[in-house]
Amino acid sequence: MTDKSRVLIFDTTLRDGEQSPGATMTHEEKLEIAMLLDEMGVDIIEAGFPIASEGDFEAVSAIAKASKNSVIAGLSRANYKDIDRCWEAVKHAARPRIHTFIGTSPLHRGITNLDQEEMLTRIQDTVAHARNLCDNVQWSAMDAIRTERDYLCRVVECAIKAGATTINIPDTVGYTLPSESAEIIAMLMEKVPGADEIIFATHCHNDLGMATANALAAVSAGARQIECTINGLGERAGNTALEEVVMALKVRKDLMPYQTGIDTTKIMHLSRRVAQVSGFPVQFNKAIVGKNAFLHESGIHQDGVLKNVETFEIMKPADIGITETNIAMGKHSGRAALRSKLNDLGFELADNQLNDVFVRFKALADRKKEIYDDDLIALMTDSAANTDSDYLQVQWLRVTCGSDGQEAELQLLVNGVEKSARVPGDGPVDACFKAVKAIYPTDAHLKLYQVHAVTEGTDAQATVSVRLEEAGRIVTGSAADTDTILASVKAYVGALNRLRVRSQKTAPDADVKSVSYKL
Ligand code: KIV
Ligand code: ZN
Repeated sequence: MTDKSRVLIFDTTLRDGEQSPGATMTHEEKLEIAMLLDEMGVDIIEAGFPIASEGDFEAVSAIAKASKNSVIAGLSRANYKDIDRCWEAVKHAARPRIHTFIGTSPLHRGITNLDQEEMLTRIQDTVAHARNLCDNVQWSAMDAIRTERDYLCRVVECAIKAGATTINIPDTVGYTLPSESAEIIAMLMEKVPGADEIIFATHCHNDLGMATANALAAVSAGARQIECTINGLGERAGNTALEEVVMALKVRKDLMPYQTGIDTTKIMHLSRRVAQVSGFPVQFNKAIVGKNAFLHESGIHQDGVLKNVETFEIMKPADIGITETNIAMGKHSGRAALRSKLNDLGFELADNQLNDVFVRFKALADRKKEIYDDDLIALMTDSAANTDSDYLQVQWLRVTCGSDGQEAELQLLVNGVEKSARVPGDGPVDACFKAVKAIYPTDAHLKLYQVHAVTEGTDAQATVSVRLEEAGRIVTGSAADTDTILASVKAYVGALNRLRVRSQKTAPDADVKSVSYKL
């Protein structure tokens, strides 16, 4: 890369983001997100961790085959088997990349049982092996920030000599501060022979809420690849949020004169899709993509914005693709109006999808007078959550509740066969979930049950998220309805469907950071 002001965006929503407990995505969802990232101008998409499961391998291969512009990377630990499997998956891409990593800090060397010299040999062997397969090799020093500085220089030099073209310096546990993040990159660029021939990447976790600041500080010091995820999705407190670093670089060009290749108008749609398919809603006050990010509630703010929008706004909603006017639709709105509105919201639908959504829209309009943008977004979530091909489908539900006790009567279609149950419970939701279990016995544990009102008013739709865990596998289901109890049952059934698909695919999820590193 010759243009020193160009910062590459490496998106790892489908790998580090998906590693977040409960953020499972289906094969089709991963492919859809990857295509959106590709269209948005992401330079490198980390599509998954091919050796982790058959499903991951297939997703990475499919994304590699379908990608048009982005480099497609797969993750592999520092052993030949991982690297070979990764290559098998990414080799179909027009521009493939092998990403291999090993933990270099004293704590990680303890886990892998390699002393400093043995680890150098391992890095030399594995990076050279990867480079023999692929011209584009990224090497990461996991837990780089807590690695002794002189040893960090040695491992980076070793990886460069072995053929790595990108060197990633991760803050794996989100421990660093901006000053230190910059200082480490500057030190490596100054001290390591060959540093000027490769690209340094920054990969920050958000445990102290500083992932964005740390990534930007690394760029100021010379890093030219930022690793990030949509909505900051990722393990624990997540990763650097793509939308934050990209918009910071756009808004503060005066202090940070760097460019990315991102079409920022695609940000909002991607954010919504990732929230929907991962089951991780975006917090209302999240920077850039939160529901309140452009909302001015106080009188002084509203007055100022009306007189001159720049008084309280440093960027325009349209910059991130918010074009909707939030004019309500209703039962007289037709198919064409619905299609155009959904297009504004970033959803492009084939005719058969539109027909399906239109039926749901009409059903909602019969129950709710005014349908706002958020209602439509929730409707799209719901149609994505329950399809005719699902193993379990909700047919009907009747609930009795009140001071005389609660009971649920439910009929499900189980693999095409109608089955029903009538079960008492401690509250209507408890009765419903027990009814589901009476029809479809399961050992899955309920880890999270969350209800959000989509809009205001007593006729508002509720979106419900249900997270389940079984034998180490965690999945999330979500659904929307004006009937909160029905939405709860649909979300629960959606999560059970996901769990079923997941358990058919693999043994419990491979844990990237705990599996052994044997060559
Ligand atoms: O956080 C981390 O260190 C990682 C590596 C695998 C790059 O995700
Ligand atoms: Zn990470």
